[in-house]
Amino acid sequence: LDEAEAGFKMITKMVPGNPLAFNNLAQTQFQKGALTAALEACEGALACDPGNRTALANKIIILNDIPNQVAVSYLQNLELFVTTQHIPVPEGFSSSATFNDALFAEVDAEPDRFSEKGQAQERQTRNIMLEPGPAVRAYSNAMNNAVRHYMDELHDDPAHPFLAGRPDTWRLEAWGTFTQQVSSGEDTHIHPDAWLSGVYYPRLPAAVQNQADTDGYLEIGRAPNHMAQRIVPKLKVVRPEMGLLVLFPSYFYHRVLPFKSPETRMSVAFDAVPI
Ligand SMILES: [Fe+2]
Repeated sequence: LDEAEAGFKMITKMVPGNPLAFNNLAQTQFQKGALTAALEACEGALACDPGNRTALANKIIILNDIPNQVAVSYLQNLELFVTTQHIPVPEGFSSSATFNDALFAEVDAEPDRFSEKGQAQERQTRNIMLEPGPAVRAYSNAMNNAVRHYMDELHDDPAHPFLAGRPDTWRLEAWGTFTQQVSSGEDTHIHPDAWLSGVYYPRLPAAVQNQADTDGYLEIGRAPNHMAQRIVPKLKVVRPEMGLLVLFPSYFYHRVLPFKSPETRMSVAFDAVPI
């Protein structure tokens, strides 16, 4: 770790405008337990790129362990920035169920994102916005409306990197994920290219919808395995429902909690990527 730290430090000096080296430095210093230095490296990345999603995500993880929960809640306000809603029945569809079935069928017919099938227990499609059919077009209209509404509801705070970073224009990238099993080893991730991310559930197994446990729920706020936290962070767990849309900032770490079912859990997620 010392060697990695020295290497990344050198790169931040050689290429001072590049947030990547600062982000790598922050992660290395965090792993070493050098929290103040790690926080400084995050600030270095944010000075290069004020809305840098990886830097914001790292900063939250580091602040949690310092600990500075006030600063964590400011950046990762789970109550305010994670929203759930049932979308209105799109025009041209008689009910939410009809729309969900049509969306399932259209997205299911999409080619896979990865040409090689790996060890993954899930199937993920390519970007469904490339050749959208009627249900995907209705989905994208609904998502764009939801993004616009989400933005309008946010308060103004020029000092807040997420609030101040609201894009004027964006493009939607969306994909379907089909799975009957998520193992307990499933790590968390962020979507570094996007401002806002969302996940919509057209079809869910009974095992995911039941309220007795959190199998197959969406968990937000846990750091990835390579940045193990010393203090348990505040988390938000959302129970998926058919027709539910969950929106959250793309720099919030998230994952699907473990579950196993003979039925398919299908989500259609999207990124609003600033352009
Ligand atoms: Fe995701």
